[in-house]
Amino acid sequence: MRILSGIQASGSLHLGNYLGALKKFADMQSLEAERFYMIADLHAITVWQDPGKLLSQTREIAACYLAAGVDPDKSAIFPQSAVPAHTEMAWLFNCVARLGWLDRMTQFKDKAGKDKERASIGLYTYPVLQAADILIYKATHVPVGEDQRQHLELTRDVAKKFNHDYGTDFFPLPETLYQGPGARIMSLRDGLAKMSKSDPSDNSRINLTDDADTIASKVKKAKSDADVLPEAEDGLAERPEAKNLVGIYAALAGISAQDVLNEFGGKGFGAFKPALADVVVGKMAPISETLRRLLNDTGEIDRVLKLGAERAREVSAPVVEETKRIVGLWG
Ligand code: AMP
Ligand code: TRP
Repeated sequence: MRILSGIQASGSLHLGNYLGALKKFADMQSLEAERFYMIADLHAITVWQDPGKLLSQTREIAACYLAAGVDPDKSAIFPQSAVPAHTEMAWLFNCVARLGWLDRMTQFKDKAGKDKERASIGLYTYPVLQAADILIYKATHVPVGEDQRQHLELTRDVAKKFNHDYGTDFFPLPETLYQGPGARIMSLRDGLAKMSKSDPSDNSRINLTDDADTIASKVKKAKSDADVLPEAEDGLAERPEAKNLVGIYAALAGISAQDVLNEFGGKGFGAFKPALADVVVGKMAPISETLRRLLNDTGEIDRVLKLGAERAREVSAPVVEETKRIVGLWG
């Protein structure tokens, strides 16, 4: 079993990233597997990044990994740009993936907006680089949030087409691990919008850097509704805010949504929100404390990144070499 995942080096992380990705990365360390967790700085520059900030954003994501419990002795943590195999394989895969596949990618449509003529070509071929990220390690499992499913489908299509065209079974078809209660955390201001770093309202999300008081106050201000919580999960179906808050409680406490309702069904948000605030503060405040300490220790972060990059290069370089040989390139 080989696990790979990544998070873009753009902006700071929030509870959605923690539950959809970071927590899973840390939890998967109990499995018998090799783990590669990268900071996707090359994906970040598909939209403009201030060169003066990119490096600190990269280190900040690394610090988030560490604060969330990813252990550099068990997992390679590295910046994508420090491993040449990513871009080298991306070119080879640009010649495998089809325009029609990329035309269907919803993330490109969302990010490019109405003016797609002005979007970078990198933003368009973004999923091809992502396929390279995964396949250069011959990764078998990829933990991500629900929003990455389409990109993972494309990765499998690239692997399938490569194997088919070259008559080989060189690339394994990686499995996406997006299930679980944290796969899609919604905004605290709108239960129908994803919690996101680009939301202009800071109250819509819990940042990994928020201290205990800020976290508690955001939970208490979170949008809810006037009803009591239902006794059973299907009672949450038409109540997006209630469903999201119950989901956050369940994901952080490591119990099911039904367990939460067994305790709080029939009670209103006046009772539920303080309990939720306790759970969120209990889990997130220690992470934010560690994170703030690590952010002042760039020496330690750089040491971890260097070690991770060495390991990542060791594993990925021979896969690219073999791919070139299969394609018939000189060398
Ligand atoms: P990004 O910040 O877009 O690079 O996302 C990093 C990881 O966090 C990916 O695995 C995403 O699927 C996951 N993620 C981002 N937002 C959310 C959210 N609101 N709920 C759950 N997972 C998320
Ligand atoms: N595109 C992913 C995101 O925005 C980040 C990412 C880049 C990634 N390469 C990856 C995730 C490879 C999983 C595997 O969240």
